[in-house]
Amino acid sequence: MNSKLIFICDRATLSDPGSYGFSVEQNGEPVEGFVVKSNYAYFAYRNSCPHTGSPLDWVEHQFLDADETLIQCAVHDARFIIDSGECISGPCLGESLQTLPIVVQDDGIYLQGS
Ligand code: FES
Repeated sequence: MNSKLIFICDRATLSDPGSYGFSVEQNGEPVEGFVVKSNYAYFAYRNSCPHTGSPLDWVEHQFLDADETLIQCAVHDARFIIDSGECISGPCLGESLQTLPIVVQDDGIYLQGS
């Protein structure tokens, strides 16, 4: 198994709560994703809404709703639970964002290679 780590960003990049969109390359393929920090924990998902496959953010790095308690898709306003990625309102109700495996270290947040 390849345990290569791909750097996403410094931990200080994210406030709490906060979100950060990224684009990295893994095995020659682009990975578009975002990281959310909430209650000291980090979560990462592909930047692809289960409704249409569109990116969730219209404003760069903004993936949270106004209360910063849910992930929001800016296209048709779907809302997702931060720590599970499950859609709880909107056109893709009951579907989920695709989780990305991350590793959080002192020097940064990394995508876990496969
Ligand atoms: S594309 Fe996300 S709610 Fe429609």
